[in-house]
Amino acid sequence: MKVVKICIGSACHLKGSYQVIEIFKALIEEFKLEDVIELNAAFCIGRCTTAVSVARWDDKILSVSKENARDIFINQIMAEL
Ligand code: FES
Repeated sequence: MKVVKICIGSACHLKGSYQVIEIFKALIEEFKLEDVIELNAAFCIGRCTTAVSVARWDDKILSVSKENARDIFINQIMAEL
């Protein structure tokens, strides 16, 4: 199982972490990755200026918005599984 942590700290919350979570959940369903990717919430992971921060299983931090969430998921999460 690959764990993807989405920051729900205050900066990321304000920039839309809950929307990013909803988009990622829908993509996991769309691509049937329920047994492969686990989404977790995290508190501030120290990259507030590039919120919404998402930490991949290998500790790479991705800067996600609701506009680029689908692209990032496909190209930087799914593609790296
Ligand atoms: S609040 Fe998300 S990285 Fe700081």
